[in-house]
Amino acid sequence: MKSIYFDNAATSNPKPKIVIEAVQDYLKNICASPGRGGYGLGLEAGRIIFEAREKIRHLFNGPSEENIIFTPNVTYALNFALLGILKPGDHVITTSMEHNSVIRPLRLLEKNRNVEISIVKCNKKGELDPSDIIKEIKPSTKAIVFTHASNVSGTILPVESLPEFKNHTDAFIILDAAQTAGVIDIDFEKSGLDFLGFTGHKALYGPPGTGGLVMSRRAGKAIMPTICGGTGSRSDMEFQPDFTPDKMEAGTPNTAGIAGLSAGLDFINENGVDKIHKHEMKLTKIFIDGLKQIPKVKIYGPDEIEKRVSTVSITIDDSDMGELAFRLDVEYGIMIRSGLHCSPLGHKTLGTFPEGTLRFSFGYFNTEEEVEYGLNVIKELAQE
Ligand SMILES: Cc1ncc(COP(=O)(O)O)c(C=O)c1O
Repeated sequence: MKSIYFDNAATSNPKPKIVIEAVQDYLKNICASPGRGGYGLGLEAGRIIFEAREKIRHLFNGPSEENIIFTPNVTYALNFALLGILKPGDHVITTSMEHNSVIRPLRLLEKNRNVEISIVKCNKKGELDPSDIIKEIKPSTKAIVFTHASNVSGTILPVESLPEFKNHTDAFIILDAAQTAGVIDIDFEKSGLDFLGFTGHKALYGPPGTGGLVMSRRAGKAIMPTICGGTGSRSDMEFQPDFTPDKMEAGTPNTAGIAGLSAGLDFINENGVDKIHKHEMKLTKIFIDGLKQIPKVKIYGPDEIEKRVSTVSITIDDSDMGELAFRLDVEYGIMIRSGLHCSPLGHKTLGTFPEGTLRFSFGYFNTEEEVEYGLNVIKELAQE
């Protein structure tokens, strides 16, 4: 039986060979703590991290290497931004398509710090009207946070409107780029962003346990650390250093993972974001065009392909999502995600709560043949 991975929105699979080799190389030949010892291996480890910062800065056109911090994933990155910026009485605007990595820290802040949340409703395709954000802005608005693309419907939210928000507020603008970093060009400086959260293990091709935040200079100055501890710098002080990145990077980093992420960024540079995006969207178009021919299948998200990333959620009449996903795996060798995808608000917006959807998400290593096979299997299941 074939084995086909269509769950790249969860994590990309397979990882490029150079990523695996970079992790192995670090563990075999370096394996020292960066910036802590004056010896050669420690310096080598520090170099790996510095180079990864340079590559992230370059990919997103960030302001400086010092304003890039590494975290275990984008969930930590978004928590660091929200918990590090929002104070009692602050107001924050977000959308109804957010992942729980935005909504849950906000709900915590609402409870513990009396932060006020406005959730702007997206339409049934998950699309956001940026003027709805502007309508919610008020003097106490301290942050606007939203996802670049929904992990449920693949809908892209209008990042091109971010500079317009700046005309109405000086609130911090926070973008969750979990589903877009590596597949859609993001220009941090031009977009007027303050925080861009990325995760390393999806379309940046790094290992799990990697991610981070790109911060504007003012955000880097304003943010309070959530975690304090050893940084290898200013070891004379009992207080957390007040300069970035050290302020936000307490404890021994995941240098093995960051070495892999750095190689993932090389892979993206060698292939080009544009080429990767084109390939994924070609597969997505074939898939959606094919699905439209299958009775009983409902497709969620925008009709226009250019308003999507390569994530497609469907339902098949009244079928049980869990059972279908199980059969796809066991009978046909197709790996997908089913049910609710860590975004209850997103599902409510799309009308797929609480049953959820079958989510297919394509990556650079998927092929047209695999997509055609997937379509044939869905047709078979829908006919039963
Ligand atoms: C839009 C979005 N935000 C946040 C996350 C959380 O990513 P991670 O688990 O890497 O922190 C995901 C992962 O599925 C996501 O799709």
